[in-house]
Amino acid sequence: MPVPQGEHVHDQNPPISTTIPATSGPERPWWPDAVIYEVYIRSLADSDGDGTGDLQGVIDRLDHIQALGVNAVWITPFFPSPGHDHGYDVSDFRGIDPTFGDTETFRRLVADLHGRGMRLLVDVVPNHTSHEHPWFRAAIAEGRGGTEYRDYYLWSDPGPDGGPPNNWLANFGGSAWTWEPRSEQYYLHAYLPEQPDLNWRNPRVVEEWVDILAHWIDLGADGFRIDVAHNLLKHPDLPDNPVLEVAATEHVPAGRVRSARGLDRVYDVDQDEVVDLFARLRERLPRTHAGEEPFLLGETVLERPDRVERYLQAGRLDAAMWFGTDRVSFEAAEVARVLRTPGADTAGTFGWFLSNHDRARPASRLGSADRALALAAAVLAMPGPYLLYQGEELGMLDLEIDPHTARDPIARRAGELDVSRDRARSPIPWTDEPGRGFSTAEPWLAHGPLPEHGSAATQHGDVRSHLNRWRGLLSTWAGLRHQLPASASVDHDADLLTLTRGTLTVWVNFGGEAVPLKRPAGAEILWRSQPGGDPATLRAGEAVWLREPTRGT
Ligand code: NOJ
Ligand code: MG
Repeated sequence: MPVPQGEHVHDQNPPISTTIPATSGPERPWWPDAVIYEVYIRSLADSDGDGTGDLQGVIDRLDHIQALGVNAVWITPFFPSPGHDHGYDVSDFRGIDPTFGDTETFRRLVADLHGRGMRLLVDVVPNHTSHEHPWFRAAIAEGRGGTEYRDYYLWSDPGPDGGPPNNWLANFGGSAWTWEPRSEQYYLHAYLPEQPDLNWRNPRVVEEWVDILAHWIDLGADGFRIDVAHNLLKHPDLPDNPVLEVAATEHVPAGRVRSARGLDRVYDVDQDEVVDLFARLRERLPRTHAGEEPFLLGETVLERPDRVERYLQAGRLDAAMWFGTDRVSFEAAEVARVLRTPGADTAGTFGWFLSNHDRARPASRLGSADRALALAAAVLAMPGPYLLYQGEELGMLDLEIDPHTARDPIARRAGELDVSRDRARSPIPWTDEPGRGFSTAEPWLAHGPLPEHGSAATQHGDVRSHLNRWRGLLSTWAGLRHQLPASASVDHDADLLTLTRGTLTVWVNFGGEAVPLKRPAGAEILWRSQPGGDPATLRAGEAVWLREPTRGT
């Protein structure tokens, strides 16, 4: 039964509990086929009328999140930050920015989530700090040769020509090196100059991070989403990266400006030994309030799945995001190519997703919300957690970027409006009113177009809506996911994709014409992406979930 939505009412105090009821046996962790809802905190719901979403806003919308049937919530950074990269430039890793709430609000959120049987992942940013972080300030004050904080960062003298020490490029434009005049050296930053990279070869940095993660576990976190996990180590000799003959400009958007895509990133990301850092961290982390090992999900922005698999070897990350499905077109062959299962020597799984706060909305990118749902129905069935980005359940569309109101540094500094990440960050349309039920004030970023099926409130009451189709899919998944084997096979024939995982078969018709739905004898239709329809026909752009009868019954 969906929970009443629309105008939200606080009817009772949240139940207070510090532990979460076990949802699976001790032998099986909770996450392998979990659905994890990504909250982009600035844009979910604003409780205090300052135009920016906040932690209390998340608490206020837990009925919606719970009614979807998700198992965990990942919340993007809410730490103190000057906001040059909207929270991914952190000036205190243990604090909470007053824009978003305080430790008390965080504790209430944890208690409410746990009371509802959901877990919480904190989004941590270990690759870099803000330039306003006390460590960076101290490193500058100490200067060259400093022994306390200087080595928390990566410094270098100029290259032979007096310029930066090598040709590495920052993801948001320009050189990855910025001159620091007071201490007269360059420092490295993979992103903005306001985001200096930490030196993870310094054991003191590792110690700091053990302590930071333990702090959030102590406050009730069940795990972490680790920002740019592949980026933590750089080649110690700082060699130039090879120049690509053909710059990788066709993949738009890739969270990097075009001018930063001309190098083969051999030496500044995904170093062989980076995966061992996660083993070192894991060994040192305490258990969560529920007595579990904290779940570690890495953001691994890599082109090759075999490179992602390295992060999943035993004792390292539990899940690593595989960036294969966030830019596929609506084509059976292409989708079949990216639906991969990690090799036998891995203990973890890929983390699957169609979108997040850095990527285009799937309903825009793929041409319709129906197509996005059909693709999601195949991706969800793959072994590994599915990361459902807020608004995907409503079929939200990209925000059209206006150069005057753009907020993302990719638009504001590099001027690349068409790859600006603002597109996916507009506030959630809870209602049809002009403020969309998001805030009583002007929102920090403009509202996007209303989804095809309307606001959350409208969709709630419409059984055929995108929202209710997602709810149907996830409740079907909840009933199945614990019974499925850990591997799937994927095949395609012309426009028809077939995914088989134990008794579950998923068919997706990527073509423009209906095709016969050849159901094996006794197979039952569990769910279909378009309402109604003839049981013998798979419509254009439609996905169907079938359950084969179990042999011997
Ligand atoms: C990935 C995050 O998702 C993105 O939003 C951020 O700008 C970069 N990492 C840098 O922290
Ligand atoms: Mg607010």
